[in-house]
Amino acid sequence: MRRDPFSRRLMRETRLTTDDLIYPVFIVEGEGERQEIPSMPDIYRLSIDELVEEAKELVELGIPAIALFPSPNPDTKSLDGQEAWNPEGLVQRAVRALKAAQPELGLITDVALDPYTTHGQDGIIDDDGYVLNDETVAALVQQALSHAEAGADVVAPSDMMDGRIAAIREALEEERHIHTRILAYSAKYASSYYGPFRDAVGSSGSLGKADKNTYQMDVANSDEALHEVGIDLDEGADMIMVKPGMPYLDIVRRVKDEFGAPTMVYQVSGEYAMHMAAVKNGWLDENAVAMESLLCIKRAGADAILTYFAKKVARLLQQST
Ligand code: PBG
Repeated sequence: MRRDPFSRRLMRETRLTTDDLIYPVFIVEGEGERQEIPSMPDIYRLSIDELVEEAKELVELGIPAIALFPSPNPDTKSLDGQEAWNPEGLVQRAVRALKAAQPELGLITDVALDPYTTHGQDGIIDDDGYVLNDETVAALVQQALSHAEAGADVVAPSDMMDGRIAAIREALEEERHIHTRILAYSAKYASSYYGPFRDAVGSSGSLGKADKNTYQMDVANSDEALHEVGIDLDEGADMIMVKPGMPYLDIVRRVKDEFGAPTMVYQVSGEYAMHMAAVKNGWLDENAVAMESLLCIKRAGADAILTYFAKKVARLLQQST
């Protein structure tokens, strides 16, 4: 059966299509800005005008949705991260501009305080630097509401606080944002693969040597991922996420088998950086590993994948049809 392309095609179980791709994008203030991110070749921080241009191309490529991540001006950072729910903030303005220009492009916004806090944690901290759950949830609700008001299609809490999905859902209902979907980062691990992202949004300097072990999941755990996903679905999540991707495919499979819910997987910045470092050295073939890594994530059970390869892979898929 493997001898010929025709029979390989007939028994192929998994297919990667452009419909599976979500492209994460980084936003900065200014005009005409395209800032390189050294650890993430071919990925840029874009000002809103540049992002609107980019969005046109993404729609033409058939990419269904993008995930927005701000790198706000350092002078807007504060202890409690209140810039996160400024109706005139970077994300809120970007959402309005993108919706006006490309209404059919799905917009997913990140709900977490880390780009906005002086300490780089995802929430509000006490004097010991411990992230306080309930105070943080109250802030996340305000942030999620401001995104929904700006026109975000999907709000995606990536903070790992307890009870935030229920609180955000209730607030959205109260404000009649009945169409805003919630993508819960449910099984988000305290991973060392987020480094390049923290450089991209400018939170690594603020975080310093601190970690996120008091709220992100222990890398050693698997049953706990099912527990977390179950809670978020009960609280009203429409989609759940496993993050990172490749080192966590056993989790993806368990989550998909157990719940059968829309399951998103984040192939994170460190995974992209690793692949691209090898590609830049001529050690791996870029197109081949990009396609393979994403196909394997789908095979493990992902319905869609957040990946910095989205644009490159969408181009490849377009050329091959
Ligand atoms: C923060 C957030 C992170 C990522 C997405 N949202 C980093 C972190 O938790 O420190 C990582 C994405 C990536 O590495 O590509 N709320």
